Amino acid sequence: MCGIVGYVGEKKCTPILLNGLKNLEYRGYDSAGIAVLEKNSIQIRKAKGRVKNLEELMQKDLCEGTIGIAHTRWATHGKPSKENAHPHEDNSHSFALVHNGIIENYKQLRRFLKEQDYTFYSETDTEVIPNLIHYYYTKQEKTKKGFLQAVALACKKLEGSFAILVLCKDFPKTIILARRNSPLVVGKGENEYYIASDMPAILEYTRDFYFLEDNEITLLEKDSIDFFDFDLDKHKKELVHSGLNRHASSKNGYQDFMLKEIEEQPQAIFETLQKEIELPLSRKEISSFSQIYIVACGTAMHAGLVGKTCIESFCKIPTFVEIASEFRYRNPLVDSDTLCIFISQSGETADTIAALKLAKQKGAKTIAISNVMGSSLVREADMYFYTYAGPEIAVASTKAYTSQVCLLCMIAISLAKQLKTTSKNELESFKKELLQLPQEIESILDNKDSIQLLAKQLYLEKDMFFLGRGIDYATCLEASLKLKEISYIHSEAYPAGELKHGPIALIESNTAVVGILTEETLLDKTISNLQEVMARGAKIFVVTNQVLPENNFDFIFSVPKTNRFLSPILSIVPFQLFSYYIAKEKDLDIDKPRNLAKSVTVE
Ligand code: G6P
Repeated sequence: MCGIVGYVGEKKCTPILLNGLKNLEYRGYDSAGIAVLEKNSIQIRKAKGRVKNLEELMQKDLCEGTIGIAHTRWATHGKPSKENAHPHEDNSHSFALVHNGIIENYKQLRRFLKEQDYTFYSETDTEVIPNLIHYYYTKQEKTKKGFLQAVALACKKLEGSFAILVLCKDFPKTIILARRNSPLVVGKGENEYYIASDMPAILEYTRDFYFLEDNEITLLEKDSIDFFDFDLDKHKKELVHSGLNRHASSKNGYQDFMLKEIEEQPQAIFETLQKEIELPLSRKEISSFSQIYIVACGTAMHAGLVGKTCIESFCKIPTFVEIASEFRYRNPLVDSDTLCIFISQSGETADTIAALKLAKQKGAKTIAISNVMGSSLVREADMYFYTYAGPEIAVASTKAYTSQVCLLCMIAISLAKQLKTTSKNELESFKKELLQLPQEIESILDNKDSIQLLAKQLYLEKDMFFLGRGIDYATCLEASLKLKEISYIHSEAYPAGELKHGPIALIESNTAVVGILTEETLLDKTISNLQEVMARGAKIFVVTNQVLPENNFDFIFSVPKTNRFLSPILSIVPFQLFSYYIAKEKDLDIDKPRNLAKSVTVE
């Protein structure tokens, strides 16, 4: 989805802005643009399509300034086109602005501005903002304070979500930033500041960041930064040092981020397991929870399905997993006796944030799990825990997923300890098994060549079925999602016992069926289901940590045996690799699959 980059300092800003936009390409977008302040004019360049189109344009048509703003747009209001691309200007060409988010009352604002003789040249919701700023600016003194006041007044009129950067030709040293429900970070350098909607865009320049809050406005020059609320009351803000290394958001020799991130899983899990999980809740409070909800979207929801099994077993509290976009609109039965856990890699998924706000309104205690420091989800929640997977750039989530499952298991341990619902010994030995995971994943990665060979055999398949029971069904859902997302092969995940109730009609000679077999007590039952499809001509591919009885499956991949609740962390790895190698065979854009965005910040 949309991305923002900005720079103010002593260097030429164009290469920095273009590089920042390239670092954000993974988020998915359809056009890009830049505005640079040069003396007393604002130079704007835009291009439809990839950032490289903008770069080519800018090689012919240079912008030399040291202060600028840039944007990648993912169309919401109005088709992908040069006219709709950001930055947008006001009618007098005094202001240029980039915007992430959606202005929900843009139609009213547009009507109001048209009555004041403003004209609109794009179909976007965004174009109302620079014109509204201009409208208020005409009523102010033409000072920096007047500029700030105009932006603040405009922000107060906006409904919806926004992160904006604004340039004004009257103030060639200044950028104004503001946000509500859409992230913005400012990175500090020597006599320079870098701005971005996402930290990875600027991580190679600095590791010292200010995180903007909702309803906050910032006046930025190369050697000063001031924070205000929308009433222009000034406040101080802490500079936060990020422990992420500079290469965390580069490919570092890999052809694709996805493979790099799959291989980073041992490290991501190790880092996540290093932090102690202490819930800031008393035993009495924890005992009062009659139910737990885990709410998330996509892969994060699948992590929730695994977490549910572990939490229910250790804590004996009924636990429900829901898709955030459903939860938020169905008036769920959630109250002060409910603990709600929200999972989001980015911490910016609109539906997950809205679901969290709803749960809070209903009096539930809320926990956020996110991979992004200072993300919106974390800010909204009563308590939060981070996964320490490092920036995940590929759209298809891998290391964030396995880290989320680990973190949920740690939360289960912490709750169970307080509740005394599981013996200390059992929890201790579970912890030990958690700590074995990094090296067990390494051993799976060592065998990736056999997965690559399998992918070479199967990459032309049109459909695939994933079957499993119990906790393996959760892995089936995630494995099937990975395959769809990046290889565009249709696939379905089914609880193996449900197959006879419909989907078996789809099985014909040579249909590819994958079985996941880690549930020891359900092994025979799942094998019987696999035999049933084999009898109808299906080819069977199996991932297991069990010793299987004699069989004639077409392919068996063994993963190390671990605790039942941790097996999904190991058994998903071959499927991440499988999807990756299939997409590679098909020569697809693995890190940026069609139609998908890394972080879905709109409904
Ligand atoms: C998008 C991504 C998925 C991701 C989901 C939730 O759909 O393409 O990979 O699982 O959003 O993202 P979140 O950042 O909330 O975990």
